[in-house]
Amino acid sequence: MNGKSMHIVVLGGTGFVGRRLVSRLLSDGHAVTVLSRNPAVHADRLLAPGTVLRQVDVYDPAALRAALAGADAVVNLVGILNESGDDGRGFRRAHVELCQQVIAACRDGGPQRLLQMSALNAGRGGSHYLASRGESEAAVKASGLQWTLFEPSVIFGPGDGLFTRFGALLRLAPVLPLACANARFAPVYVGDVVEAFARALRDRHAVGEVYELYGPEVFTLGEIVKLSARQLGLRRLVIPLPDLLGRMQGLAFDFVPGKPFSSDNFRSLQTDSVGGIDGLHRLGIAPTRVAAVLPDILGGPDDKEHRYTRYRAMH
Ligand SMILES: NC(=O)c1ccc[n+]([C@@H]2O[C@H](COP(=O)([O-])OP(=O)(O)OC[C@H]3O[C@@H](n4cnc5c(N)ncnc54)[C@H](OP(=O)(O)O)[C@@H]3O)[C@@H](O)[C@H]2O)c1
Repeated sequence: MNGKSMHIVVLGGTGFVGRRLVSRLLSDGHAVTVLSRNPAVHADRLLAPGTVLRQVDVYDPAALRAALAGADAVVNLVGILNESGDDGRGFRRAHVELCQQVIAACRDGGPQRLLQMSALNAGRGGSHYLASRGESEAAVKASGLQWTLFEPSVIFGPGDGLFTRFGALLRLAPVLPLACANARFAPVYVGDVVEAFARALRDRHAVGEVYELYGPEVFTLGEIVKLSARQLGLRRLVIPLPDLLGRMQGLAFDFVPGKPFSSDNFRSLQTDSVGGIDGLHRLGIAPTRVAAVLPDILGGPDDKEHRYTRYRAMH
């Protein structure tokens, strides 16, 4: 496992974290195969040269088993923030059932090393999202494999679902009614998350460990939005919604295609995403502060070049 070149299969490797992780694993000398449900959707987001991208129905046990056969390690990054209904079934399928299938494929002649993405507060609070994360963690811990679990707070970097998303909203809306404005996060830089995976992969002491991944600063959601507005040079009115209205906003957005916010998001945000045992420190990684990266994420006022770069990162 130490320093050796491996064949690593990545599920969810076409996403925000995945593309960066794949690039890092390749530059570490590993061979990387990314399994995607539909590579064509991601055709304009270039994966690093050398990546083998395969279209595989990861929910098909036989196809998954075949795709994992012969690999040395599997990284499962698949995750969703919203399901189509609000009964937990979508989260269970993407987080629990898929994870169980990955474990079954590993046990059935597949790789013995599993790096599983999870989330801070897995198994806590009242959301289907966090409940499903807790269930998948339990399955991983009981798998008998050489597993490592990663529990990030919200992850930031160019093209993220945090500053990039609020930046886009702020450009459009002079007034922003904000649910859960007091929810707290310790945002962790995507480069540090990738570094954590890369280090854990080559460190045998990381087997059987759970790493909370969070940054050195704690912000409320309201502060994150105001920080984004300031970076963009925009004067915006951010109106924190009382809980009842926030809950109603979640209910209303449950019916909006793509669910920009949902009842389950509201429930997840009732549990602060701040962490307790510093996984980056445990892995010897110095955390990156938000201020060091925010200009790369949002650019500044009238920064056309950055606007184009951000557009490319998001689409
Ligand atoms: N971003 C954050 O702030 C954050 C914070 C905590 C935890 N996480 C977790 O970290 C992981 C990576 O996050 P990310 O931001 O990179 O996510 P992302 O950009 O949405 O990418 C996730 C990838 O998973 C695959 N996927 C999405 N929905 C799926 C489904 N229903 N079934 C099977 N595959 C599906 C997609 O690949 P294909 O379309 O190619 O199949 C997608 O590229 C996720 O598990 C996420 O929950 C993220």
